Amino acid sequence: MPADAVLHVAGARPNFPKAAPVIRALDRHGVRQRLVHTGQHYDDRMSEVFFRQLRLPEPDLNLGVGSGSHASQTAAVMTGLEELMVADRPALTVVYGDVNSALAAALVAAKLGIPVAHVEAGLRSFDRSMPEEINRVVVDHVSDLLFATSPDALAHLETEGIATEKVHLVGNPMIDTLLANLDRFDVAGIRAALALPERYVVATLHRPGNVDDAADAVDLVKAMHSVADHLPVVLPLHPRGRRHLENAGLLSHRAMRVIEPLGYLEFVSLVRGAAVVVTDSGGVQEETTMLGVPCLTLRPNTERPITITHGTNRLVTRSTLAEAVASTLATGRLAARATPPLWDGAAGERIARIIAATL
Ligand code: UD1
Ligand code: UDP
Repeated sequence: MPADAVLHVAGARPNFPKAAPVIRALDRHGVRQRLVHTGQHYDDRMSEVFFRQLRLPEPDLNLGVGSGSHASQTAAVMTGLEELMVADRPALTVVYGDVNSALAAALVAAKLGIPVAHVEAGLRSFDRSMPEEINRVVVDHVSDLLFATSPDALAHLETEGIATEKVHLVGNPMIDTLLANLDRFDVAGIRAALALPERYVVATLHRPGNVDDAADAVDLVKAMHSVADHLPVVLPLHPRGRRHLENAGLLSHRAMRVIEPLGYLEFVSLVRGAAVVVTDSGGVQEETTMLGVPCLTLRPNTERPITITHGTNRLVTRSTLAEAVASTLATGRLAARATPPLWDGAAGERIARIIAATL
């Protein structure tokens, strides 16, 4: 690796739509880059499909770490990256979001004295029972460049004593990807492919707090079935939840359509045409905000409050979900609110300019 190269580390589904615009913009600035895929996600539908659809460059290396406990997965990424970074020292390591791959890469780089840039810095749910919250805090505290997607993140970082000159409000690169692909989202096409009526609900579920416990899964399935009593539900199911949710009878409602995870273009097309989205995903809360699609988030908190203040997002519980869906359907889509600041399609370019200036 050339000594002035930027090393991007990505590995899980939400990393890919965030990395694509940053890599593209750095290319325009003539910055030499390498991309390491950690292999945290490995199914074609969780990984490769994003490379094809978003025209991401082929990774220079795939560490192939696969699944495992937090410690074993994080350790495998750390060991693989340490070897690479010692042999081929990058000028800067860029990590994305709050996944274990980002934590591992940031720790390795920081201990080798290699500067770290964190894309999506400063988000906080203030819920340390979420593994992602621990990752966010640790990554931010070892980062040298912190790229924030929303103003609340700046306040959190300041409260935690992180020097303000390291922090840059740049907008949201995941939204760059959404805006860059607006012409490629084919609502009629996906509706026809899945034989869906005009009005339908899209759901995604993968948070440990929702899908890891067999008893909770029974309650969640009951709640999802009550939604399916109103409208057909399409659930492209993340592999994490499949066993518990299916054992809890998820498939037994005839209006509940459980399918494999979708490619990015198909998934956002489906979301764009939905009457309501039910989710526990971070990225989907943001995408629905931009698309103006009502979003009900099945979580007790969100690290993305801007999707509530500026978007169409609401937090719900298993017991309030069905009622929330019914009232949302009765109200219909709300008038558009102000878009979050700098969610304008140019976050990748802002990040690239700052990186290019610091190299
Ligand atoms: C991870 C992130 C989470 C993010 C999510 C996005 C961490 C701690 N969690 O959660 O923040 O919201 O990705 O999707 O990094 N599996 C497959 N095929 C795959 C990948 C995973 O079958 O390609 C299954 C395996 O059974 C695995 C389970 O999913 O054990 C969980 O995968 P893992 O990467 O550990 O965490 P996610 O739940 O995907
Ligand atoms: N996504 C997708 N196919 C799916 C579900 C989600 O392409 O079947 C996309 C979604 O549009 C967003 C990203 O995956 O861009 C979000 O990833 P995920 O929900 O897995 O992670 P989170 O954002 O919760 O960390």
